[in-house]
Amino acid sequence: MIDLASERGSHKQPAAKAPWALEKLPPFPVIATRLLHTLSKPYVEISEIGKMIAVEPVFATRLLQMANSPLFGMHQQVKTISHAIMILGLQRVKAIVLTRSLGDFVAPAMKVKALRACWQNSLAGAILAEKLAPACGVDPDFAYVAGLLRDIGRLALLVKYPQPYGNVLAVSGENAYDLMTTERELFDVDHCQAGAWLIQTMPFPPELLDVVAHHHEKPVKGPFQMVHLVHVADLLADALGLGVLAPIDPQGFDDVLKYLPHAARSRFHFDPEDLKAEVDSRIQFWD
Ligand SMILES: [Fe+2]
Repeated sequence: MIDLASERGSHKQPAAKAPWALEKLPPFPVIATRLLHTLSKPYVEISEIGKMIAVEPVFATRLLQMANSPLFGMHQQVKTISHAIMILGLQRVKAIVLTRSLGDFVAPAMKVKALRACWQNSLAGAILAEKLAPACGVDPDFAYVAGLLRDIGRLALLVKYPQPYGNVLAVSGENAYDLMTTERELFDVDHCQAGAWLIQTMPFPPELLDVVAHHHEKPVKGPFQMVHLVHVADLLADALGLGVLAPIDPQGFDDVLKYLPHAARSRFHFDPEDLKAEVDSRIQFWD
């Protein structure tokens, strides 16, 4: 078996010290940090999670709104936090907590219009990873979280430096520059390196570090892993017109699916237009 990590460039390894660009970063919502820490334990009482969410009225209201939304297709009204957790399941609650928290984290930067594409692209990658997961035999909720967090480094950079990051997008887009190269020129880190450092400070499994650090690298020989699934989801977002910038080397929907293992490819039956319509409507839900 080939060790994928050792095949990759050493520049992608996370720095031990915080990159200067991430110093004094606004904090993630406290509720998210507390919940993620609790949800990372092997045994968790639903009532414990319920209490944590219940003391945050804004968050509790949002969770109930989501549990009752058509997105989750519930046939009965969900009135309590514990009921919402039981119906949705802890993994889905985790995905909702993360999505809402990241949305709150990036909200101040969304005043810079060009940055909205970054948040929408994070959501698109999450939804597409979730859609790819059953065909690849992996947990859709974990795939969603991996897709959502893949660009956490970009979200952090644009929250800390909204206007400069908007300029990075403009310069890269106008000149067809590689976005990660432009990030490194301005911030001394690209969003994969920044994200890898950040994710190490959070209670996530090591697999997510691999996803965040390496999701732009073409798969090499070896077993198909979550980082490869997220790589495909990222390229699919581009192919469906949901990328941050127009890709320098555009690939069509079917071209991207060739990166899936043959068995997974034969199980993935989505019409590109239908898939894009679904992703668009789910992005609207969170936006
Ligand atoms: Fe990325």
